[in-house]
Amino acid sequence: MIAIYPGSFDPITLGHLDIIERGVKLFDRVIVAVLSNPNKTPMFSVEKRLQQIHLCTQHLNNVEIDSFWGLTTEYAKLKKANVLLRGLRVLSDFEKELQMAHTNKTLWSGVETVFLATSKEYSFLSSSVVKEIAQFGGSITHLVPENVSRDITVYYT
Ligand code: PNS
Repeated sequence: MIAIYPGSFDPITLGHLDIIERGVKLFDRVIVAVLSNPNKTPMFSVEKRLQQIHLCTQHLNNVEIDSFWGLTTEYAKLKKANVLLRGLRVLSDFEKELQMAHTNKTLWSGVETVFLATSKEYSFLSSSVVKEIAQFGGSITHLVPENVSRDITVYYT
């Protein structure tokens, strides 16, 4: 079974990586799909994000990395994937995630959203938190893969 793990990944964090590493044990293939969103001004370009994800998932052999534009369900159909994988951190994630899962189900009844509880050491972690800490000069080495940490250092120098 193929699962799509869609997201912004701007940038990928250790929390995302945790979901990918556990997802590949559950599915034959996990496609990490970076949304190319024209409404957002990202910290890193889609190409850079793809490279970042590629570098930190090299130890996993059933991961594919790709970008997409448009509806996640359309992209999933294209990739013949019936599962959308998402991480759930805290209760406040639940409302948005449930709404998204229900919306996606109305768009394509053949899709199932599977939630993995984010490991508790990353339950507070988000890309926004990483960017905020980095912006004020705090250390983020315990929050993101090493290659991403280097990219963020370069970004702010
Ligand atoms: O990492 P994020 O920003 O929480 O990911 C959100 C994402 C990309 C999964 C979501 O915004 C999405 O699926 N966008 C694509 C547009 C879409 O399919 N919308 C309908 C479902 S709400």
